[in-house]
Amino acid sequence: MPAKTSPNRLLQLTAFAITGVFVLGFVFAPVGAWTGPVLAAWFIGTQKAWRGFLWLAGIGFVLNLVSNWRGTPLTGIEFTGRTMLAALIAALPFVLYRLTSQRQPGFLATLSLPLWGTAFAGLPYFAASPRTGAISFLVYWFAAVINWMWNQEFQAKKIATGAGIFGGVCVLVLGYGFYLETHSAAPVALVTNPALAWICFAGALILSAWSLMQPGAWREVWANKTETVALLRSPYTRDSLQVVTDDGHEVLVSPSGERFPVRNGIPIFLEAEKLTGSNQKYNHLYETIGGFYDDSQRVVCGLHGISPEQYFLSYLRLLEISPGDSVLETSVGTGLNFKYLPAGVRLFGLDLSAEMLARCQDNLRRWGMRADLFLGNAEDLPFANDSFDVVFHVGGINFFNDRAKAILEMIRVAKPGSRILIADETEEHVKGTYERIPITSGYFKNRQETVAAPVDLVPPEMQEINLEILRDGQFYALTFRKPSFVMPSLTRSNS
Ligand SMILES: C[S@@+](CC[C@H](N)C(=O)[O-])C[C@H]1O[C@@H](n2cnc3c(N)ncnc32)[C@H](O)[C@@H]1O
Repeated sequence: MPAKTSPNRLLQLTAFAITGVFVLGFVFAPVGAWTGPVLAAWFIGTQKAWRGFLWLAGIGFVLNLVSNWRGTPLTGIEFTGRTMLAALIAALPFVLYRLTSQRQPGFLATLSLPLWGTAFAGLPYFAASPRTGAISFLVYWFAAVINWMWNQEFQAKKIATGAGIFGGVCVLVLGYGFYLETHSAAPVALVTNPALAWICFAGALILSAWSLMQPGAWREVWANKTETVALLRSPYTRDSLQVVTDDGHEVLVSPSGERFPVRNGIPIFLEAEKLTGSNQKYNHLYETIGGFYDDSQRVVCGLHGISPEQYFLSYLRLLEISPGDSVLETSVGTGLNFKYLPAGVRLFGLDLSAEMLARCQDNLRRWGMRADLFLGNAEDLPFANDSFDVVFHVGGINFFNDRAKAILEMIRVAKPGSRILIADETEEHVKGTYERIPITSGYFKNRQETVAAPVDLVPPEMQEINLEILRDGQFYALTFRKPSFVMPSLTRSNS
């Protein structure tokens, strides 16, 4: 039964217009002066801090070297050295902003970028004119405000707050500058550059120190999570697990001596080095694109004129969820589906990628939601039989090593009588999209597997097996019900 989604033309038009402005920024310097820092601030937020720093500095270094090489009176070595130092210093405010905003997602954190940026711009090497300080403050702040609004998912109220505060300060600063310009005989700076740089430096230090004091990493004490620990089993022996503390670190241990460490609040049931085949190949992809994943989803939705709600509910509507239910998503990724589930349920998510799970923690913190997260393989779930009221999977199974095993595992851990959902993209989508995007094409071209909804892998004992093709043939949603009676064939590897 095909389900069509009609695009919202206004949303689509806005998405194209915004994309157009950013493209223009690459060829038209006055626009680029504003959009460049927005992109830099966004980019650094998608990366591990040190990696983002090196990338930003590297890009800045190459661009400056190429564009200023010919006009320099310096020797080659001197010019290269200075350009490299300048690129490193120019990238620093973005890294410091990223570290601050990670701990402090409120609007106040947007000030970290202009404060650090203006402080560094005030260094003697950069101080080009007395007005640079005030203008660079506004340019940096604009970048941080736009990123903040984007991270708040452009909710109308947040846009109003961000645009209102930024617009108000702009009017005040620029208005005062204009007043000074027209009422003084000699040019006067708003604040002299060195003074502004020192004020900003002090402000940046205070803000960053305060942010560092905020709780950072996901604080989960597994010893207190007795209910969840009772559901856990070794994915290899099916032994039950208990929490012990070793050298101040929590570890899940089984009676046979298996040990599963808890890192950043997430029990680790599998080390990436042990992965093989497609699981290894695609895990590399998600570890690389984890930081871009959510944004790419939003851009795709925008350009197609589909609201995120329409997108996610197109398949989540097939779940049967009641208040108080325990809900497991295998391959939870960054947790995007969780946001669209009814409130008042207990959420559990498992994924193979540490990067995707770290983003999931960030998202949950921002949305004010809680979930128990696990790093493991969906083909060997670390849970006891019949544990969850709702079990579903979206978006990974097409390229699992063993899809049949993953489906049997979902059935095993679901409570009898529950409906299971498996959704993923069709071959048409994979060919038309992933094979064409430069960053993903290497992973999807020349593959052995042809994508097909795994209807034939659903055991015949399942009831109400149903396949829906969604979004004009781009997506499939397969549902079935686990029977209420006991199935010996499926419970052989029981807890
Ligand atoms: C396209 S993302 C989907 C994420 C999320 N379900 C969503 O709908 O936004 C696919 C996810 O599957 C995960 N994945 C791939 N193979 C896996 C496996 N064998 N076990 C668990 N997760 C896996 C990846 O790490 C990635 O996070």
